[in-house]
Amino acid sequence: MAELHARNIVDYLEEQRGKLTLRFITCGSVDDGKSTLIGRLLYESKCIFDDQLKALENDSKRYGTQGEKIDFALLVDGLEAEREQGITIDVAYRFFATDRRRYIVADTPGHEQYTRNMATGASTAQLAILLIDARKGILPQTRRHHRIVTMMGIRHVVLAVNKMDLVGHDEAVFRKIESDYREFSRDAGLSTLVAIPLAAVFGDNVMKPSANMPWYRGPTLFEHLDTVDVGHSAARRSFRLPVQYVNRPNLDYRGFCGRIAEGTVRPGDAVRVLPSGRATTVKSIDFFEDSLPEASEGASITLTLADEVDVSRGDLIVAAGDPPEAADQFQARILWMAEEPLVPGRPYLMKIHAKEVTATVMEIKHREDVNTGARLAAKVLNLNEIAVVTLSTSQPVAFEPYATNRSLGGFILIDKLTFATLGAGLVDFALRRAGNIHWQALEVGKEQRAAIKHQKPRCVWFTGLSGSGKSTVANMLEKRLHAAGRHTVMLDGDNIRHGLNRDLGFSEADRVENLRRVAEVARLMVDAGLIVIVSFISPYRSERRAARGLFQPGEFVEVHVSTPLEECERRDVKGLYAKARRGELKNFTGIDSPYEAPVNAEVVIDTSARPADECAIAVMRHIEA
Ligand code: ADX
Repeated sequence: MAELHARNIVDYLEEQRGKLTLRFITCGSVDDGKSTLIGRLLYESKCIFDDQLKALENDSKRYGTQGEKIDFALLVDGLEAEREQGITIDVAYRFFATDRRRYIVADTPGHEQYTRNMATGASTAQLAILLIDARKGILPQTRRHHRIVTMMGIRHVVLAVNKMDLVGHDEAVFRKIESDYREFSRDAGLSTLVAIPLAAVFGDNVMKPSANMPWYRGPTLFEHLDTVDVGHSAARRSFRLPVQYVNRPNLDYRGFCGRIAEGTVRPGDAVRVLPSGRATTVKSIDFFEDSLPEASEGASITLTLADEVDVSRGDLIVAAGDPPEAADQFQARILWMAEEPLVPGRPYLMKIHAKEVTATVMEIKHREDVNTGARLAAKVLNLNEIAVVTLSTSQPVAFEPYATNRSLGGFILIDKLTFATLGAGLVDFALRRAGNIHWQALEVGKEQRAAIKHQKPRCVWFTGLSGSGKSTVANMLEKRLHAAGRHTVMLDGDNIRHGLNRDLGFSEADRVENLRRVAEVARLMVDAGLIVIVSFISPYRSERRAARGLFQPGEFVEVHVSTPLEECERRDVKGLYAKARRGELKNFTGIDSPYEAPVNAEVVIDTSARPADECAIAVMRHIEA
């Protein structure tokens, strides 16, 4: 008995092996009958176990909404309920198979606050089922679902017009919905679009043609899913291997490991390494102890190359005759997935294929209303919002546009401190090819400039609340340095905001830009050999960290003026705290705008505990040491 069972499983696995796998996403809400449809798909494809079916029959009688019939929604609603409460933002994946294909369904909730879930599910799907309630027709949510799935690169859509039984199986209702959808999806570039009238509760047109709708001559849902051509053939595509790991067990062996993103490779093939562009040929394709004659898309392999070219993690090895491009500035679309907003100018970690670089959004060109597609102006991007942006990266990145290659054009943005995923992005195109603008090689450098001043250039960065005494101590420090014959310069928030940064206010986005510019100016002045004293509230850890990143180790001295808020407010030199408390001044640091205290400042001083001049001496000592 057990043996028979085992034999069956082996047969079953064998049978499954040769089948194509179709990944699709279902978009709709419980009200449209989404759970019922998915339950029905599992049932009709016999992917419900017998014991599950028994339990389902019992539950249906007890809790179901379908009388004596089986309520398929009960199969999948458990998860749905959990997600509707926002307990998890995951996507539920379900697996089933027919005689012809295997299926992986991504099931996500349909409401607007789950946009990020739907985008995640859609990012790996080849086809989307947009579910419509025949009684309601095309709704704003249908347009939103359409927008998300097409943005994520899905080119095959099934318009599942459900609950046809509730509109008397009326062909006119179905045709109207079909033509409405065809009309507004006309420019979406869909490769296939099939509308199917369904009554998922009864199984009409799911597996078998419906006797209730003889006017419909198209395929049933399963006939379509089993046969639709979603372009599985990888043969035509050029070879692309993102290098995930460089294997160097000894001096004689250097293997480049990764999973082939596209195409096929054979020993002797001419390849190129990007972004460097160096050309060479493939020596071998290693897979454990074996050397393979050939490997294709999806295979995890190790390549060795004929020449000693420099290849690191995150590089691409590609067909020499058809390389993708490399760039360090892009136009991209971003879907923001985090509670805290995306702010232009703030550095994020960008992960694109196997490469990780620092990326900043230079500009939000416009935000797109997910429901209407309208273009809106935006300074920041909030949770579940989508925008077209320009991005710049710290190093050139090899890529392909997402529209032609999802695996080399999709990326995520990650928080540099917490490593949380913040957003998903799709590269549209490069703004500027890397390599067109070179660094100008300079004969006279920072060292030479500083040497004739007999000093070590530095950036001394004061951070602290308004009224904490930053400017007072910074002034005293400059006097002392000057007296000691040092060449200094002072960049003070209030002053710079009258000139270079007069266009900026106190929103989070404006402060980020304020600090970015000051840090860049400070760097230029350090390059000039000067000791630069910066005095800005600079309330955000991430921007102070970005500023530090512009300098050599030891060059950046962070001074936290830690005078407590109560003391700053008591002093209230400019009367701004009083105004902020009265609500006449918005976004005031410490009152209704955050101050993130440093955790690793080189010097910490509190002007309420010590005279300002002693504080200045403490900073001076640190610099001169
Ligand atoms: S930062 O946050 O962007 O670093 P910055 O140091 O340039 O601020 O400017 C702070 C100065 O602007 C304060 O000393 C204060 O005089 C003035 N100011 C006006 N409005 C605000 C505000 N909402 N928050 C903080 N400072 C403000």
